[in-house]
Amino acid sequence: MRGCKMTVYERFRAAGVLPVVVIDRAKHALPTALAMLRGGIDVMEITLRTDAALDAIRAIRRDCPEMLVGAGTVITPDQCIDALEAGAAFIVSPGLDREVVSLCLERGIPVIPGCVTPTEITAALRMGLHTVKFFPAGAFGGLSMLKSLSAPFPQVRFLPTGGIGMEDLDAYLSRDYVLAVGGSFVCPRAEITAEHFDRITALCADAHRAART
Ligand code: 3PG
Repeated sequence: MRGCKMTVYERFRAAGVLPVVVIDRAKHALPTALAMLRGGIDVMEITLRTDAALDAIRAIRRDCPEMLVGAGTVITPDQCIDALEAGAAFIVSPGLDREVVSLCLERGIPVIPGCVTPTEITAALRMGLHTVKFFPAGAFGGLSMLKSLSAPFPQVRFLPTGGIGMEDLDAYLSRDYVLAVGGSFVCPRAEITAEHFDRITALCADAHRAART
């Protein structure tokens, strides 16, 4: 379906995983994105945890149009504005900040805030959102918690992230309330720093295979 007019959410579902990527040096952005594309993954979240993050988003947006790149770890409205100016196509946050969500909604940018309680999910719904990040998934009870949360919120799709590994993919992706699984396991920071891009391609290919079965 690549090349069709898919929404950001459809792209997440098709990929099955949303790699959470930490880029320490901007020069690693493009080879990392290309390595993931070779492995069949065409979505990525670059976390605003390093000085290189905004340049990395800019570089991918400019030189790798096949990759859908968004910003993660967006905690403040200022960070959100910087990320959007750098070209982030979507915004992911570890928690729910109303100002960040409003900013994105005003600009028509998909925003996925972190929610782990019914109260937080209710707040997200009241802001008009139907997709939330369940973070940190592992520490907050994993699939068993997610199953309980999905019962009263059948209209919500979750992006479980945090503490999830390749071995958990099948179980998460078999639930229809899971849009996609987020995580660094397909693109570990150490592999990027060591420039082991073939390894990243292999991990993405494994995840992509698991997501399609
Ligand atoms: C995130 O920011 O979403 C998490 O740090 C990713 O968690 P993981 O490294 O356990 O996948």
